[in-house]
Amino acid sequence: MIEIEGLSVSYRSGKKEEQALSGVSLSLPSGQITGLVGESGSGKTTLVMAILGLLPPEARVAGRILVDGVDVVGMAENERDRFRWRRVALVPQGSQNAFNPVLSIGSQVAEPLRVHRGLGRREAERRARMLLDEVGLGSKAAERFPHELSGGQRQRAALAMALSCDPAFLLADEPTTALDVLIQAEIADLLKRAVRERKMGMALVTHDLPLASGLCETICVLDGGRLVETILAKDLARGAKHPRTRALVAALLEMEGNLS
Ligand SMILES: Nc1ncnc2c1ncn2[C@@H]1O[C@H](COP(=O)(O)OP(=O)(O)O)[C@@H](O)[C@H]1O
Ligand SMILES: [Mg+2]
Repeated sequence: MIEIEGLSVSYRSGKKEEQALSGVSLSLPSGQITGLVGESGSGKTTLVMAILGLLPPEARVAGRILVDGVDVVGMAENERDRFRWRRVALVPQGSQNAFNPVLSIGSQVAEPLRVHRGLGRREAERRARMLLDEVGLGSKAAERFPHELSGGQRQRAALAMALSCDPAFLLADEPTTALDVLIQAEIADLLKRAVRERKMGMALVTHDLPLASGLCETICVLDGGRLVETILAKDLARGAKHPRTRALVAALLEMEGNLS
């Protein structure tokens, strides 16, 4: 369970200051998928990186972020390492391209197990093969190199890496962006299954409301760094109050209309 209370983040460069988040409070419960939805620039990635303590040095953070009841804002790096990967893991935005081109997929998925779980190379790589199997790539994918995988396959490998240390909570930042529509649906199914089978919580960060409404119980809508609405996915069509949510819903309904 992650609880965010009055979180504000600004980026300072020279005299300019960019307010990326303003007083955001929300909770991300265990065991379910919560959507963080908003247009590009609304502050989604900033929120995710704040939870993990991975904001760049020019970022100023105020407010509280409770992970299992412990405030992680301002926590020392070595303390944060106790919960990164093991409690909360990230599938980063653009993760299809995040692999080192000269290392095998297996050695890269094994890396967090060696660093954060202290496993030896053989055991870490054995587990990496199991993880690659779990995400539908098959254990043989371990020997392949990033350029030998398609975008969807690389996204699966990124998920395998995020799952490596058995996190209780997954932060998935735009996990289907830049993939073909059919592949997006496959990745969505995979995420849903991983959350169910591993009894994890997940924050699904996306600008794609149809995706979020298909996967999430609750959807939090960000607009210009503010949380403007928290709504159950099932109430989206009728219950949306904020104009930003309504605009997103109108686009969704129009899309469904075009399909039927
Ligand atoms: N390192 C940074 N320095 C300055 N401004 C930034 C930085 N990262 C993000 N921003 C600004 O913060 C706002 C929110 O960005 P971001 O969290 O990436 O939004 P999203 O993920 O919703 O697209 C944007 O206006 C963006 O330009
Ligand atoms: Mg982003």
